[in-house]
Amino acid sequence: MQSMIKREDLNIASAVSDAGQLMGGQQLPPGEEVVQFENTLRPRSLDEYIGQQDIKTNLTISLEAAKKRGESLDHVLLHGPAGLGKTTLAFIVASEMKGEAKITSGPALERQGDLASILTNLQEGDVLFIDEIHRLRPPVEEVLYSAMEDYCIDIMLGKGPSARSVRLNLPRFTLIGATTKMSLLSSPLRDRFGNVFKFAFYETEDITQIITRSARILDFPIEEDGARRLAECSRQTPRIANRLLRRVRDFAQYHDESEITRAIVNKALVALGVDELGLDPMDRTILDTLISKFNGGPVGLNTISSALSEEEQTLEDIYEPYLIQLGLLERTPRGRLVTERAFHHMGFDFPAHRRQSSFID
Ligand code: ADE
Repeated sequence: MQSMIKREDLNIASAVSDAGQLMGGQQLPPGEEVVQFENTLRPRSLDEYIGQQDIKTNLTISLEAAKKRGESLDHVLLHGPAGLGKTTLAFIVASEMKGEAKITSGPALERQGDLASILTNLQEGDVLFIDEIHRLRPPVEEVLYSAMEDYCIDIMLGKGPSARSVRLNLPRFTLIGATTKMSLLSSPLRDRFGNVFKFAFYETEDITQIITRSARILDFPIEEDGARRLAECSRQTPRIANRLLRRVRDFAQYHDESEITRAIVNKALVALGVDELGLDPMDRTILDTLISKFNGGPVGLNTISSALSEEEQTLEDIYEPYLIQLGLLERTPRGRLVTERAFHHMGFDFPAHRRQSSFID
């Protein structure tokens, strides 16, 4: 049996979930995080957002058109490597739509009720940001389908013969899903997003501008040449650029310097173990292990994970994308393969058998 009732008629928290977290005296639906947005280096508007020009252009058109129609923005899927600004964009969309951003992630939404309680607490124009959306469990994902398409969810009340299904209408919200693994998204979910944007690694010029802007916010001057040098070692990723900037600022302040120069950046990077390609100690440990223990591969991800005592997911999502981007590592059907460039970068000779086999290939 299905009946139409209003959300106000129900005690949602007890109907769908009894596991709310208490934060600052306020009941939060499970899986929902409070993200500190104050006091950060994140841009707050599309105008302040540097780089990803294609995404900005298309998003601006969709946002302005939705505002003119007085509607919420169509759901948005963001995909690409970690640290490139997907969460930041969700906050910007929420503020453009004069709503709030609620942040959660695929693995945090364990049960249908977890998602239902978040959905039923949304207001018109809010953004629900689900990070790692490819990790949603299928029953939870199913709840999203009607929420996205028809702005309603069906929930079961009670158990056994007296159980009944009730339909709850939801406010017009925008779902922003983010994933580093587009291929793992089911097609019914993928097809429900009206906007699909792919994040690319940033140009060095854009990272230089981001660092300059962040230094201004941190109120610590940086020479243009210093900003560029830092940008070159930031793995084309704003999150890493900002993290390195904070460490270099510490270094400068410790040495009583009043400005970050190229020379200070160079010294700080040596102290931090970041090399001229922007590889950190873990990147180099990965390459070194693959070369010295496995002759450069091919070797399976699970074997690398055991050899390094590092989770497969971390290796795949955090370390590999940049090594691949730099042409230091390849993913092949037989496993991970270290490239000739990586052998040279790590100070090893490229094995003769690899030279011949790549020639024959
Ligand atoms: N900080 C982090 N990402 C940024 C971006 N894309 N533009 C400006 N500042 C940022």
